[in-house]
Amino acid sequence: MSVVPPATVLVTGGGGFIGGHLVPILAGAGYRVRSLDNRYRADPEVLAVQERLGVELVEADVRSRGAMDRAVRGCDAVVHLAATAINKSFADPAESLEINLLGTEHTFAAAADAGVRRVVFASSASVYGEPGSLPMREDGPLAPQTPYCISKLAGEHLLGFYRRTHGLEGIALRLFNVYGPGQRRDAYYTTVVLSFVERLLAGEPPVIDGDGAQTMDFVHVRDVAEAFRAALVCGEASAVCNVGTGVQTSVAELARILSDLVGSATEPQFRPRDVLVTRRAADVARARQVLGWEPRIGVKEGLAEVVAEVRSRRS
Ligand SMILES: NC(=O)c1ccc[n+]([C@@H]2O[C@H](COP(=O)([O-])OP(=O)(O)OC[C@H]3O[C@@H](n4cnc5c(N)ncnc54)[C@H](O)[C@@H]3O)[C@@H](O)[C@H]2O)c1
Repeated sequence: MSVVPPATVLVTGGGGFIGGHLVPILAGAGYRVRSLDNRYRADPEVLAVQERLGVELVEADVRSRGAMDRAVRGCDAVVHLAATAINKSFADPAESLEINLLGTEHTFAAAADAGVRRVVFASSASVYGEPGSLPMREDGPLAPQTPYCISKLAGEHLLGFYRRTHGLEGIALRLFNVYGPGQRRDAYYTTVVLSFVERLLAGEPPVIDGDGAQTMDFVHVRDVAEAFRAALVCGEASAVCNVGTGVQTSVAELARILSDLVGSATEPQFRPRDVLVTRRAADVARARQVLGWEPRIGVKEGLAEVVAEVRSRRS
C-alpha cells in the first residue's frame, strides 16, 4: 500500500545532504514531515529552511530506542537516512556499527511496533564491493568491505525480518555516488568533486588518487531525492533497487569535465593511493520498473551546478 500525501513521514538524518533535498520535496508534495537529526553533521541552514516550510524538527539520536519510539508515533512512513559515513567506519568501526546497525535496528523496530506502514532505507552500492562485471545488478554478488557496508547490507536483511514478523513494508535503495549542491567536503566517495572544483577555482591542478582510471556512477542528489519520494508511493511492498545512472565517469574524465567548466588549462597531478572499488555502474532497470523512476540530470549539467554553487560561495 503506497503512502500518499497528506500522510506523515519521519525522515531520519533529515538535516544532512540528501535530507536537505528530500525534506522540501516531500513537504512541497503535501506530506507532513518530521525531520530527525542528532545535529552531528546537520547543516543549520538546511534545518532553518525546513523549519520555515513547517517541517517538525526533532533533535534525537537513532541510538536511543526510546527516542525512536517517540519519534515514529503517528507516522505512516519512515525514510531512514541517518548514518555515519564510510570513512568514519575505518576510524571507528564500533561507532559505525552502533549508529548504522543498532540505530537502524532501533528505527525499524520502533516503526514496526508503532504500526508504521512503510520504511524506505538508504542502502549503498558499497554492498557490492568490487564488481565482477558491469552494470551492477541487484541480484549480483555482494562483498561488503567495511563495517559501514556490512551495516548497510544487514539493514536490508533487517527490513526483510520486520516484513516477515510485523508486515512492515520495506524498500531499500542502493545509492551510487551521490553528488550535487549542498554536499559536504568529507563525503568519502564523492568528495573528489568538491576538492577538484575548489582547487581549479583557486588556479591549482586537481590531484588524482591512483591513475584516474577508476570510475564512479555519479547520480545527482535531486534525482536521488525523487527516488525516495517514488519509493513511498510505489506499488511494491518489498524491494531492493539500485539508484544510479548506469553511466561510468572516470576520475580523470571528471577532472577534464570540471577543468572545462571552470575554464582552467592546468594539467591534473597524480598521487599513488589504493582505491577500494575500481569501477561502478548501476543497472537501473529495476528502479525503473518498481519505482517508475529515471535519473534525469546528466553528469555535465549536474557538475555545472556544483561549480556555480562553489563559485557563488567564494564570491
Ligand atoms: N551521499 C552518498 O553518496 C551516499 C551513497 C550511498 C549511501 N548513502 C546513504 O544515504 C544516507 C544519507 O547520506 P548523506 O549523504 O545525506 O549523509 P549526511 O552525513 O550528509 O547526512 C546524515 C545525517 O544523519 C545525521 N546523523 C548521524 N548520526 C546520527 C544519529 N546517531 N542519530 C541521528 N542522526 C544522525 C547527521 O547529523 C546527518 O545530518 C546515509 O545513510 C548514507 O549512508 C549516501
